[in-house]
Amino acid sequence: MTILRSVVLGCGSYLPERVVTNQELAESVDTSDEWIVQRTGIRQRHIAADGEVTSDLAIHAARAALASAHVDAQSIDLIVLATSTPDNTFPASAVSVQAGLGVTRGAAFDLQAVCSGFVYALAVTDSLLRTGAYARALVIGAETFSRILDWTDRTTCVLFGDGAGAVVLEAQQQPGGRDDRGILTTHLRSDGRHKSKLYVDGGPSSTKTVGHLRMEGRAVFKHAVAMITDVIEDAFRATGYTAADIDWFVPHQANKRIIDDSARRLGIAPEKVVTTVDLHGNTSAASIPLALNAAIKDGRIKKGDLVLFEAMGGGFTWGSALVRW
Ligand code: UT7
Repeated sequence: MTILRSVVLGCGSYLPERVVTNQELAESVDTSDEWIVQRTGIRQRHIAADGEVTSDLAIHAARAALASAHVDAQSIDLIVLATSTPDNTFPASAVSVQAGLGVTRGAAFDLQAVCSGFVYALAVTDSLLRTGAYARALVIGAETFSRILDWTDRTTCVLFGDGAGAVVLEAQQQPGGRDDRGILTTHLRSDGRHKSKLYVDGGPSSTKTVGHLRMEGRAVFKHAVAMITDVIEDAFRATGYTAADIDWFVPHQANKRIIDDSARRLGIAPEKVVTTVDLHGNTSAASIPLALNAAIKDGRIKKGDLVLFEAMGGGFTWGSALVRW
């Protein structure tokens, strides 16, 4: 008996043109390139141009993913956009992406799980594809965090950047074992007791403003590694795979120390870890597909590889996904 799996057909990403280095930030806030690199691994971030909105970034990434999948936009019947920085309060930025791509069928919606957004969107899309209700989906993570940063707060403004990444998923019949291609397992978690450790101090229903990002960095850091390793162990338990079976670990790109600590605790060899946080900082829901696309483009990730994703962010939310390429 075969089963439906969500198989990745292609991947794409986009970073806005403007690059802001640590050095440049040190001219406006009391920080240094040395502090930022040592504590986070970040060397630069990309910032969207005036008037360039989240859906613009998402459309660039989606077009690149469609091209790499060799499929036409018209064949897409589901678009799930993970973002915490939508163009407007509503409609969903996903419908702007849909219109921008010229897609007029199926469904499009936004999903909000902050930095875990891409893993959440993968899990939700996988569930919808496996019901047979949709055939081919775009899963996108896109953010313009530069618009919600307090540029006078050195404890947060040095950490984040703008960007987008996307994958094309297709429902395909597979034999039904753990060697199948496609998404093998996903695990989502949240714990709202931690909501005040990483949040935005505004919103339509509370302040009627957009607000700024606030974070207790040290508290987030303290929880991050334990939560990440926990949910990855769930993925191992569900499939019977172990850290030794993983070909590539593509984690959320928030902080190189969190990435390295998680990999070390799980026993994943450093050469299997994909890290791009130095190039674009924390792009929230966009960070996993940005790292993923880098490792596909340079030939590291190949068909048949076992790829592990994880993310952790505001809420707290966290999650993992294990995918056979
Ligand atoms: O996507 C998921 C969400 N985000 C994260 O995963 C981020 C999690 N947290 C972190 O990555 C780290 O906690 C940070 C990078 C945010 C901070 O690193 P840390 O090693 O935890 O530093 P800290 O907050 O303990 O601050 C150490 C010192 C403080 O000074 P004092 O109190 O020791 O005098 C800060 O005021 O560093 C100071 N500091 C800075 N100095 C220069 C904080 N930000 C800066 C800065 N430049 N930008």
